[in-house]
Amino acid sequence: MDFLDLARTRWSVRDYDARPVEQEKIDRILEAARLAPTGANRQPQRLFVLKSDEALATVRSATRMAFNAPLVILVCAKVDEAWHNKRETVMRGTTCDMYNVAEMDASIVCDHMQLAATELGLGTLWVRGYDTQALLDAFDLPEGVVPMCLLDVGYPSETARPASLHFERKPLEETVVVM
Ligand SMILES: Cc1cc2nc3c(=O)[nH]c(=O)nc-3n(C[C@H](O)[C@H](O)[C@H](O)COP(=O)(O)O)c2cc1C
Repeated sequence: MDFLDLARTRWSVRDYDARPVEQEKIDRILEAARLAPTGANRQPQRLFVLKSDEALATVRSATRMAFNAPLVILVCAKVDEAWHNKRETVMRGTTCDMYNVAEMDASIVCDHMQLAATELGLGTLWVRGYDTQALLDAFDLPEGVVPMCLLDVGYPSETARPASLHFERKPLEETVVVM
């Protein structure tokens, strides 16, 4: 699929079919994650693939945003492994001490997975509307591994439709400056 067609095909799915995601598709999604660029190639991402009934029940106990997805990828980063500035920088008056790119790295990984899933005919939802502590309490994550977002994945239910926000994109003149 042409890239812009792929980007146009994706929409946030919040109601899923019970059909499980095939293992070959999960493997392709994870390979797309593996190929993602990260700052200084540190690859700090840590992905937890939640697909057992137990793991899905656990994530649903921590957030409503997993909806009824048959697969949820908990995207984390080992923050200390990510590239960071060696010294203090000042951005428009705000001091950023040792700015760390872990969240950017995790976002790129998640975006690769979201688009790979779209190409495979799957629906997805990128989720950040959860309480981090609730997720940390629910999962016994390794030391220093911090949740960055969730990616719900599955086949959209027959009645699932894009929300109205999907159709609202600002014109380029509002978000782009050409110099
Ligand atoms: C960083 C990020 C966080 C998001 N968090 C949530 C969330 O917690 N819950 C939710 O229902 N949608 C969430 N979304 C989905 C957005 O609301 C959605 O992408 C946006 O409204 C545009 O709609 P579309 O994805 O259907 O085009 C998130 C999207 C992004 C990129």
